[in-house]
Parts: sequence; C-alpha cells; structure tokens
Amino acid sequence: MQLRNAVLQMQAEIVPGIGSNTIRGIGIDLVHLPRITALLQRKPAYRLKFPGRILHEHELLRYQDHVSNEEKSTLFLGRCWAIKEALYKSLDAPRQKAFEFKDWCTVDKTGPRPIIKNFDLNDEERFLVSVTHDGEYVVAVVVRDKAS
Ligand SMILES: CC(C)(COP(=O)(O)OP(=O)(O)OC[C@H]1O[C@@H](n2cnc3c(N)ncnc32)[C@H](O)[C@@H]1OP(=O)(O)O)[C@@H](O)C(=O)NCCC(=O)NCCS
Repeated sequence: MQLRNAVLQMQAEIVPGIGSNTIRGIGIDLVHLPRITALLQRKPAYRLKFPGRILHEHELLRYQDHVSNEEKSTLFLGRCWAIKEALYKSLDAPRQKAFEFKDWCTVDKTGPRPIIKNFDLNDEERFLVSVTHDGEYVVAVVVRDKAS
C-alpha cells in the first residue's frame, strides 16, 4: 500500500494534467538531419511541399532566406521539426489530435533562447524550448507550463 501511494504521489508530480504543479507536460525529439535532406530530395516538388507542410507562414518567409544554402535550410527545417515534435509530445491527448505543425511558429532573435507560439491560442500556457545541434543531429526539449 505504501508503494502504491508512493507511485500515485510520483504520478501526481510528473504526469501532465495530474496534480497542481505548474509544469503540465514535457517533450523531447531528436532529428537526424540527413533524413530531412532525403525528404527534400525525394521529388522536386517536395522542396516546396515539405516546408509548406511543417512551417508556419512566418517561418516560411524566414526559410526563404536560407533556401540557397542547403546546410542552413536543412538545419532550419530540422530545428523547427524537432521543436514541434517535442511540443507535440508535451501536449495532452485532445490537443495532440488537433495538432498541426503549421499552427506553431518558432520566433527567433528575441533573446538567446528560441520561443514557440501559437498565435491563435491565449497565453494561459507557456512552452519553454531548449535546442541543441551537433553535426547531423538536432535535439529539442519543450516544457509546457502554466503562464504566471
Ligand atoms: C508519436 C510520435 C510523437 C512519435 O515520434 P517518433 O519520431 O516516431 O518517435 P520518437 O523516437 O521521437 O518518440 C518515441 C517515443 O515518443 C513517446 N510517445 C509516443 N506517443 C506519444 C504521444 N502521443 N505523446 C507523447 N509521447 C509519445 C513514447 O515514449 C515513445 O517511446 P517508445 O517508442 O520507447 O514508447 C510521432 O510519430 C507523431 O505522431 N507525431 C505527431 C506530429 C506529426 O504529425 N508529425 C508528422 C508531421 S509531418
């Protein structure tokens, strides 16, 4: 019984949606950049179609700045992909069902850390992002919490 209570207590502390903590969810994703390159090269039409499927309209504009540089454009897409997949994992089930990559926009250059926003949602929740990349890999972590 003691063990069961300890497990329930642990769940209340860490499972999104349970308990009264401000942290509601966490997600992580790892992207292997050659996978993005392969997707872009699959068919000539994918070069436009794929970014159009995952990027927010503001991101698409920023993507255009990198499009002539394959390394930069792949990293841009891989980074956005990793952040959005991590964000997806941080959401609860009903919002995962309605999740669209294009609804979410990563906002850069406002400070040292990336920010992600869905401009159609109110700011009751925050999504804290951390990203790292090295060589062919990008990793993103997103923490969903209650905005103070
Ligand atoms: C479920 C999903 C997040 C798994 O991602 P993946 O890249 O195939 O696999 P990853 O290795 O990154 O993640 C696997 C882990 O995610 C976790 N996971 C699976 N479903 C999850 C969910 N709905 N919510 C949170 N975490 C989940 C599990 O812990 C799993 O680990 P396990 O295989 O050891 O059980 C992904 O397939 C998905 O459905 N993404 C939705 C967004 C989308 O539509 N992407 C495509 C855009 S074009």
